[in-house]
Amino acid sequence: MRILAIETSCDETAVSVLNVSGGFKKTKIKILSNIVASQVKIHAPWGGVVPNLAKREHQRNLPIILKKALKESKLLKFPIFNFQFSKFIPKIDLIAVTNGPGLEPALWVGINFAQELAKEWKKPLIGINHLEGHIFSVFLKKNREIRNPKSEIQNIKFPAIALVVSGGHTQLVLMEKPLKYKVIGQTLDDAAGEAFDKVARLLGLGYPGGPVIAKEAEKFKIKNLKLKISLPRPMINSKDYNFSFSGLKTAVLYKLKEPEIKIGLANKSSSSYLLSFICKEFQQAVIDVLIKKTMRAAKEYRAKTIILGGGVAANKELRRQFQEKVANNSGSRYLLNLLMPEMEFTGDNATMIALPAYFRVSKNKKSAFPRTLKADSNFRLK
Ligand code: KG4
Ligand code: ZN
Repeated sequence: MRILAIETSCDETAVSVLNVSGGFKKTKIKILSNIVASQVKIHAPWGGVVPNLAKREHQRNLPIILKKALKESKLLKFPIFNFQFSKFIPKIDLIAVTNGPGLEPALWVGINFAQELAKEWKKPLIGINHLEGHIFSVFLKKNREIRNPKSEIQNIKFPAIALVVSGGHTQLVLMEKPLKYKVIGQTLDDAAGEAFDKVARLLGLGYPGGPVIAKEAEKFKIKNLKLKISLPRPMINSKDYNFSFSGLKTAVLYKLKEPEIKIGLANKSSSSYLLSFICKEFQQAVIDVLIKKTMRAAKEYRAKTIILGGGVAANKELRRQFQEKVANNSGSRYLLNLLMPEMEFTGDNATMIALPAYFRVSKNKKSAFPRTLKADSNFRLK
């Protein structure tokens, strides 16, 4: 089975082709192409993703990215400029597209395009939840082959707790069995990645904020013990599994207005030290909240697996501290297994959409193919 997947929920235009072979017992999954076109440069001046700009760029890029993906997966042999979608039907068996959550104008571009292709090529079409994609991203391999996917994916030990952290979402999800989800907590305001982006903007570090803040934080070395910068850990002890990051961003804003910090940042000899200090403390505040709540959920629901997914999963400190925490937890009743995506698959891509599409279709052939799809910007995992 060959799956063509399309992802346009935010600011990445992505198309992938996944090949599944080998029958039921010895299934082999191979990524034939994984093309991602980022719009980061276009949205950078605004410090965040502008939905209508994203829509325009997806419309412009999608046909080009599709051709590239077909070419790379060797499904398209003749030169790209000669290619017309209506005259050529590639050897694929299923089209998958993200139908939410995400930016509605951006989602519609992918859905309309996928629907047109499905009609033109007479192929079945399936809609996939973007967050389910981030969860499945932990199974994708850079060397492009997942040799024993049925055992790797279906044998993950349940229950599992998934923490999906990206620019648009921060959710804790309980998985009792494969393809079944229950959202047990989410952010009440900004997503964790959004907080990174907004704080980076306050600090004049550019967009996207996550990588630049992480880089600044890495430079931090304790020098001046007199000056303390401490930021709040919002909702860290609240009894629920919800999050709130907008207050943390405001706390950074107020910190920057304190005379001592203002003077320090204006002073050449102390500015880079102070900047790295603020970044380090902000990053640690986010990490503390994410890890504490996830571990508490894992304990309450007796989870055997923790899954970390989404753009913020690229944060090396978050990964390191999660690993450390899980390793230290080994004395407890359950042996916790931590699954994280390889760096290449932390951000948005279409391969993470193709993979759950395969599992959904193999599980339930009929109901998997709706005639028409709708963009659902708040599409909830269930
Ligand atoms: O999953 P993603 O590519 O898109 C959404 O679905 O939102 O996530 C993008 C988010 C951005 O907010 C970006 O700042 C954040 O992921 N991010 C990071 C890092 N790399 C990307 N946040 C923290 N540390 C990083 N290294
Ligand atoms: Zn995402």
